[in-house]
Amino acid sequence: MNRLDAWLLLTKYVKNKNLRKHCLACEAALEDLAPEFGEEPETWGLAGLLHDLDVELTKQNPEKHAIVAVEILGQEGFDKDFTNAILAHCNKAERKSNLDRALYAVDPTTGLIVASALMHPEKSLKAVDLIFLKKRFKEKRFAAGADRRQISSCIDLGFGLDEFLSRTLASMQRISGDLEL
Ligand SMILES: [Fe+2]
Repeated sequence: MNRLDAWLLLTKYVKNKNLRKHCLACEAALEDLAPEFGEEPETWGLAGLLHDLDVELTKQNPEKHAIVAVEILGQEGFDKDFTNAILAHCNKAERKSNLDRALYAVDPTTGLIVASALMHPEKSLKAVDLIFLKKRFKEKRFAAGADRRQISSCIDLGFGLDEFLSRTLASMQRISGDLEL
């Protein structure tokens, strides 16, 4: 599936603007991580873009989250390696590949970064730096939904926390126009 078709698929099922932006942020981060592991940025990017495809569809049944997405993606021809990452991002499959681990760690990290940018006096991604981000990371009650342990699982990819936060921040700054932040 090409990028345009993936975007059309996402926007067919995801109407919430902030959720679409979250998917774009994960796409950007994964695109930039893929070459580190000798992988295709396009494929990793699509995993980020589509991982929350079914959030609105499964609103009443959160236990079906990712399972419905994988049904749709299977019909669209995505392979098991790809769909395993979607399942694994919410603990519905074991994390076996680098893509599984990368999506899992990136998902809450983008949330922490958006929340940090919004509470910065300048309210922009460009104004956020690693020091600011690490302070927010350490405040347990700040953006509590951004699971700190899940973010710290970046170590399973071979990245220290500082490097992982910096990389994800840089990826999101790269698309700050799309994120309108
Ligand atoms: Fe997500």
